[in-house]
Amino acid sequence: KSEKVWLTISFGMIMLFMIATGYQAFALGMAPPGGMELIDPQKVDQTAPFDNPGITQIGENEYEVVMTLQIFSFTPMEIEVPAGATVHFKLTSKDVVHGFQIVGTNANGMVMPGHVLNMTQTFTEPGEYLVLCNEYCGIGHQFMATTITVK
Ligand code: CUA
Repeated sequence: KSEKVWLTISFGMIMLFMIATGYQAFALGMAPPGGMELIDPQKVDQTAPFDNPGITQIGENEYEVVMTLQIFSFTPMEIEVPAGATVHFKLTSKDVVHGFQIVGTNANGMVMPGHVLNMTQTFTEPGEYLVLCNEYCGIGHQFMATTITVK
């Protein structure tokens, strides 16, 4: 008799699991979590806005930086903003997983192929901010760095 109870419980668990998985897949298909944007990593160069990476002023001391990461560099390399600027970064990877860490700030993210990472940082203090890849991405990983100049 207890066998039947256990069988029922196991079956119930499996059903719950299947429903949960199915729902998750459905929800993911409809809208990726956290407003995550998806991109075809093979077509980054042809996909707006990454077909034209660079810096654009979008408000009073507010900028958008569209950037691609690839082994072992950041495009564009040169970024310069005035002190106090708020910068909205739009990042994606063209190959493997890279990191985007602005040394001396809290800005730190994982840049994955197939995904667009949005990140905002306000630069109050002038200076040269070192940007590092902090995810191991291959033999050139340790040289993958750039700077953001705040004047
Ligand atoms: Cu890119 Cu490490």
